Amino acid sequence: MLINPDPRRFEMKKLMITAVSAALFMLTGAASADQALAQKNACMSCHGVDKKIVGPAFKEVAKKYAGDATAHDRLVAKVKTGGKGVWGPIPMPPSPQVKPEDASKIIDWVLSLK
Ligand code: HEC
Repeated sequence: MLINPDPRRFEMKKLMITAVSAALFMLTGAASADQALAQKNACMSCHGVDKKIVGPAFKEVAKKYAGDATAHDRLVAKVKTGGKGVWGPIPMPPSPQVKPEDASKIIDWVLSLK
């Protein structure tokens, strides 16, 4: 029976490595797609990923709302209507032209930053 079980284990390992790298590829692929969306919608002219420009760094935003389950919807709404007073006196102008599904994807990406 157990003449040589190793080749099968090796196949399993190969399969797992392939699955893991595929998942990683999908993750990084999705992140950069959403960043491109943020660029396309001019968010990145006021926000850096890890540095403040006019608005807060997106990593700071992610840190502030880590573990806040209601943050996503509030921030999507804020992109659309604008707002001020959370990070300082400079207001964020409204961006009503951003499609809701795009705003949602951008906020998902922002909140996933670490
Ligand atoms: C003209 C500059 C400007 C642009 C363009 C801009 N922002 Fe902002 N953003 C700001 C400022 C300033 C603040 C801080 C507002 C405050 O203190 O409440 C801010 C705050 C935020 C916050 C945190 C809000 C909070 O309540 O904590 C998020 C998230 C955000 N912006 C996302 C975006 C996204 C996504 C886009 C693109 C659709 C965008 N911003 C475009 C200037 C900008």
